[in-house]
Amino acid sequence: MGLVKIRVEGVSKVFGRDPAGALAKVRSGMDKTRLKDETDHVLGLHDIDLSIRTGEIFVIMGLSGSGKSTLIRHFNRLIEPTGGRILFDGDDILAYDAARLQTFRRRKVAMVFQRFALLPHKTVIENVAYGLTLDGVAKPEAFRRAGEQIALVGLTGFETSYPAQLSGGMQQRVGLARALATDAEVLLMDEAFSALDPLIRHDMQMQLKELQGRLGKTIVFITHDLDEALLLGDHIAILKDGTLRQVGTGSEILAAPADDYVARFVRDVNRGRILLCGAFADAGLIAAADAPVIAADATLESTFAAFAGGAAALAVRDWDGRIAGALTPRRVMEALARI
Ligand SMILES: Nc1ncnc2c1ncn2[C@@H]1O[C@H](COP(=O)(O)OP(=O)(O)OP(=O)(O)O)[C@@H](O)[C@H]1O
Ligand SMILES: [Mg+2]
Repeated sequence: MGLVKIRVEGVSKVFGRDPAGALAKVRSGMDKTRLKDETDHVLGLHDIDLSIRTGEIFVIMGLSGSGKSTLIRHFNRLIEPTGGRILFDGDDILAYDAARLQTFRRRKVAMVFQRFALLPHKTVIENVAYGLTLDGVAKPEAFRRAGEQIALVGLTGFETSYPAQLSGGMQQRVGLARALATDAEVLLMDEAFSALDPLIRHDMQMQLKELQGRLGKTIVFITHDLDEALLLGDHIAILKDGTLRQVGTGSEILAAPADDYVARFVRDVNRGRILLCGAFADAGLIAAADAPVIAADATLESTFAAFAGGAAALAVRDWDGRIAGALTPRRVMEALARI
């Protein structure tokens, strides 16, 4: 995958009266609990390093209070770090003055908030068109584009309703439509789907993937839901108590959890649907000449039918067309059973 869009370098965030002093204590070994008990400061993030690539969906996961919202809010400087740097297309956004920051927020990033943050005295269509009109798009054009996004999130007919007249899930969809209506290169989505019911949620997940594929937007997506993370994420970052425990593809994280915490986190996932054949092919084994061939990026689950049909081994074909090795039923079972 392509260039780095957002680079986070050694970012730490402490909430309280003397963040720098408290961060020094953290650096000399004090943990989040003691910092809170002894100094009444909250460690939001500690020494986060990561890169988000252009055009990917990057998922941030972690339990409540692990620092997900704090991290994503650094990306448009709603929160300023206590230490570290944030680069956007290689530019240090912390160096932006007020005017530059305003342009950056309007043009480059759009945020869908965890709580809906709609303008209560504006109608649905006015809310969705708001960013466009701020940007100088003429009202008829802004309303036309807003109408398209409203249709996309399934709210046609509610254009002239006010937020208070909508359910929570509907308000969330208005927030999403508003972010989609802008031309922002990066969408920041903080639990954007959590208030949706399962069917609409699944539709929205599919639409988001389709949109990202079609428009090449970079999307940073926070969720509590592991299945959602695995479905959407090109890469997934797992946070715990403000520290980054692991970043990788879903398949990488499942195949090799960085620590016990991550292992417990992913324990109940259907591994067959996530793990990929390429990661488990035995390079030292050659399948029979007439063995079925499977792609390296096919899931382990997709081998079941061939094995049920009696194949002793499958030849795994790499991205470049070469045969990378063979997969036996035993090897697949071991991967599924975490042996
Ligand atoms: N403005 C603030 N002042 C003090 N502490 C804060 C502030 N904002 C966040 N925190 C603390 O920072 C930590 C991380 O909070 P954050 O909101 O980032 O968590 P989260 O992972 O988004 O959780 P959730 O899943 O519940 O939304 C928590 O311990 C929280 O109490
Ligand atoms: Mg949050």
